[in-house]
Amino acid sequence: MAKPKKLFIKTYGCQMNVYDSERMAEALGASGYETTAHVEDADMILLNTCHIREKAAEKVYSELGRFKPLKAAKPDLKIGVAGCVAQAEGEEIIRRQPMVDLVVGPQTYHRLPAMEAAVQQGHRAVDTDFPEDDKFEHLPKAPRARRGPTAFLTVQEGCDKFCAFCVVPYTRGAEVSRPVARILAEAEDLVARGVREITLLGQNVNAYHGAGSDGVWSLARLIRELAKIDGLARIRFTTSHPNDMDDDLIAAHGDEPKLMPYLHLPVQSGSDRILKAMNRKHTAEQYLRIIDRLRAARPDLLLSGDFIVGFPGESETDFEDTLALVRTVGYGQAYSFKYSARPGTPAAERAGVPDEVASERLHRLQALLSEQQRAAQEAMVGREVSVLLEKPGRMPGQMVGKSEYLHAVHVTDPTLGIGDLVRLKIVESGPNSLAGRLV
Ligand code: SAH
Ligand code: SF4
Ligand code: F3S
Repeated sequence: MAKPKKLFIKTYGCQMNVYDSERMAEALGASGYETTAHVEDADMILLNTCHIREKAAEKVYSELGRFKPLKAAKPDLKIGVAGCVAQAEGEEIIRRQPMVDLVVGPQTYHRLPAMEAAVQQGHRAVDTDFPEDDKFEHLPKAPRARRGPTAFLTVQEGCDKFCAFCVVPYTRGAEVSRPVARILAEAEDLVARGVREITLLGQNVNAYHGAGSDGVWSLARLIRELAKIDGLARIRFTTSHPNDMDDDLIAAHGDEPKLMPYLHLPVQSGSDRILKAMNRKHTAEQYLRIIDRLRAARPDLLLSGDFIVGFPGESETDFEDTLALVRTVGYGQAYSFKYSARPGTPAAERAGVPDEVASERLHRLQALLSEQQRAAQEAMVGREVSVLLEKPGRMPGQMVGKSEYLHAVHVTDPTLGIGDLVRLKIVESGPNSLAGRLV
């Protein structure tokens, strides 16, 4: 048998890229590759890229530049660029960096084995189509290898929302939902391989509308069906859009015990004027009412969000509306960004806010969000949580896992192992994690 070739994948961007990288590694496994964590051992390097904010493409080019000596030392080394920068730049990547052999956009990974074969023949391969077929269905799967206790599962791809600042509808294409039966089969396979928690992924995951046994299924119905799988203990989903938070999905937070009480629900801004300019199609008040309904269904729900500051036209008053919204909601976790003009998006044409102003606002918002985050974490001390142990901790005998609220919790107990789901009492809150004791 031929010696396996080594594949080094570096992943940028969102969880959907993490999932895609796993699937690409499995697909290339069928072409004789095994993954390596050491770039210098690689026969193929694959960068799975993100285009969401500024300088993404420049970072990819400078990263590629760093591979030059490797390629000089090993002329057979193949270099590929996948993901959203690949989609946005296409052939331009090979024009600017001729040592790149392969460019593949996010919707054509099922063609990767054939592209790899062409590359081995000395060809260049570029594919940035948006084909009709389900890319995942055509990807070779790995044999039932054991895996860790948590997994991502992409159920929906693409976005039809066209927020004025965002590249995703252009890099990932239109909204497509995978059929229910394939998702259930993949989930069952994951559980058979040791997975106990599945995070359903989509750029707009709650807009899921997949073909089911009797017509179109919603995300809530899919979650309720997945919850019937024995051995699957926890279900999460991300990322959601407020306008797709339907009644049944809100209700599921109250009545589906396997659905975890943590929800990432980005709002971007607390100013109606800015929300309108962003084309978000909801007001701050509508967002707050959805949060009220979610909390009525599940009072201990921990909320997470995304915010953009310095969007074109954002005044000090608009920004204060964002701070006010944050104070009203009280986030347990949040991500905030300075607006970054993306070529080809409508907002890129508009005059921006001066950079110092945006930086200063980001600083103020982050101070408030970190304060809330710290408070939410400290409020866990004395409470009992359930923790799914994922990996060894830094101290001898220590294990680390996540609570239902997605807080990192560590515990030291010789009886525990990876994949155990345990009840812990939180005894201490540290800078990045909580300490727990078995109850
Ligand atoms: N589909 C998700 C998130 C997509 S991208 C949603 O609708 O919420 C993740 C986050 O990146 C966004 O929520 C937004 O806060 C941020 N983001 C996207 N485009 C950006 C841009 N041009 N500048 C700064 N932040 C941006
Ligand atoms: Fe981007 Fe808006 Fe779609 Fe989210 S909903 S991916 S922010 S266009
Ligand atoms: Fe980035 Fe593409 Fe995800 S732009 S955030 S990798 S969808």
